[in-house]
Amino acid sequence: MKLSAIVACAGLLIGRTQAWTCLSQADANDIAARSTIFLQHLNVTQANETAQGLFADGIVEYGDSINSLKGDPLGTQVENGKQHYINDTLSTEPIPQINTLNVVAGCNQMVWQWEFLGIGTGEYRISGMTLITVDAGSKIVEQYVEFNSLAWGANIGFNITPSALPGK
Ligand SMILES: *[C@@H]1O[C@H](CO)[C@@H](O)[C@H](O)[C@H]1NC(C)=O
Ligand SMILES: *[C@@H]1O[C@H](CO)[C@@H](O)[C@H](O)[C@H]1NC(C)=O
Ligand SMILES: *[C@@H]1O[C@H](CO)[C@@H](O)[C@H](O)[C@H]1NC(C)=O
Repeated sequence: MKLSAIVACAGLLIGRTQAWTCLSQADANDIAARSTIFLQHLNVTQANETAQGLFADGIVEYGDSINSLKGDPLGTQVENGKQHYINDTLSTEPIPQINTLNVVAGCNQMVWQWEFLGIGTGEYRISGMTLITVDAGSKIVEQYVEFNSLAWGANIGFNITPSALPGK
């Protein structure tokens, strides 16, 4: 962690027993790598162990791509709490392949750009991004995820018929 980054975050430091430092690129890459192990969950035991150290207890998740896919009203909170989130994720089918396309490290936030391959029929890649917010212990407290849910839906059997765009 760079001194300049530490100084930039000094406002968050006061009163904490453990010094907070901004995410370095390596920290952000590590969070993306552990998120991949969890979301792929090719080995559920390993995914669960990884997730226990990755997420804060009160983690929340938002994102209308998931709401659209599930038929929930836009703006509905997707996940609330670590154990629910872990259970929900680990009870779904494993994701055959997750490729990290880019990781941008901020201070207490990072952006992880990714693609999922092999969902459902696997006909279409699913590309998306997660805006991740971490706490002072670098555990994830919030995720805002958006991706191509139309491609996801098509892969799992939604009957999608494109129509001419209005105004064309
Ligand atoms: C799954 O992960 C656990 C924990 O890391 C490990 O002990 C176990 O051997 C793994 N199972 C397989 C089939 O690789
Ligand atoms: C998660 O799953 C475990 C085992 O299936 C269960 O004991 C626990 O109550 C679940 N927790 C939540 C929050 O759903
Ligand atoms: C994950 O691990 C926790 C803590 O060991 C356990 O309580 C929970 O049941 C596990 N969940 C799953 C889905 O395996």
